[in-house]
Amino acid sequence: MKEYYENKVAAVTGGASGIGLALVEAMLEMGARAVTIADINEDNLNKHCARLSDQYPGKVKGLKTDVTSEASVKAMVDAAVAFGGGHIDLLFNNAGLGLGGAFEEQGNEQWGKAFAINFYSVVYGVRAALPYMKAQKAGHIANTASGIVYVHLPYQSMYAATKSAVLALTTSLRYEYWDDGIRFSTVIPGTVATAIWAGGPIPKQAITSAESAAGILKGVAENQRVIFVTEDDRSGCLNMARAACEPQVAKGMDEYLLGVARARKSGNFSAI
Ligand SMILES: NC(=O)c1ccc[n+]([C@@H]2O[C@H](COP(=O)([O-])OP(=O)(O)OC[C@H]3O[C@@H](n4cnc5c(N)ncnc54)[C@H](O)[C@@H]3O)[C@@H](O)[C@H]2O)c1
Repeated sequence: MKEYYENKVAAVTGGASGIGLALVEAMLEMGARAVTIADINEDNLNKHCARLSDQYPGKVKGLKTDVTSEASVKAMVDAAVAFGGGHIDLLFNNAGLGLGGAFEEQGNEQWGKAFAINFYSVVYGVRAALPYMKAQKAGHIANTASGIVYVHLPYQSMYAATKSAVLALTTSLRYEYWDDGIRFSTVIPGTVATAIWAGGPIPKQAITSAESAAGILKGVAENQRVIFVTEDDRSGCLNMARAACEPQVAKGMDEYLLGVARARKSGNFSAI
């Protein structure tokens, strides 16, 4: 896998924290040539860019980016290409928010913001990178979804809807651009101990960002269609697919999801 990332040019949105930062660090460690960290959080961006630039001089560029703005994402991708000497190999559309809550408490404005950060950010990234990757006849775009795209947890309808849209978009594009030499993968990063859980308990089965990044980068190198970092998420997907077709499995899945809904309704959000 190390050889695959040697000399690569990459950009990572949400790259100043959690899984995104771990992707940046792992690619640099494996010999990437130019990595652009795009994030809205300037403090984290400055802190980690300074630290990584000391370690990998000339290989890291930090760019304040708001992925909900198409102009901001395009400027970031253009700058990442310039930083890579007119080339880009990898774009990780990773930035996203957790977005839990009861459906009745979420109005259209919140739904709009949810799709802006978790879904349109991906559309903007793809649109900005495509002209470069088509001209190169090569490139890989990895879009981060979540295990929730298969197991639609209650009290997370907004998160489930936005991330399911990411999966559908990415799978369609994978075949639309296959013959242009551009690869697309959906990332299901596992349950990962990051800042996204702020304010809530982190599930005990959570893996580290470094573990998640290692699984993601392996999946990208292997051009997997859907990159399942954990077996938990893979079996959740299998169970959900079976539940859709087989009544005896559906009963178990209904009971599980109803249990989660009731626990969450009574305030226990650690239930997943
Ligand atoms: N942590 C998990 O358990 C988990 C599970 C499934 C999916 N994911 C997904 O993985 C991705 C990364 O999440 P994480 O867990 O590393 O979270 P994180 O909070 O550690 O990192 C997210 C980063 O995105 C940045 N960001 C937020 N809004 C932005 C914006 N408008 N423009 C640019 N950057 C913005 C934040 O500043 C932050 O640095 C997200 O898409 C998330 O939905 C995470």
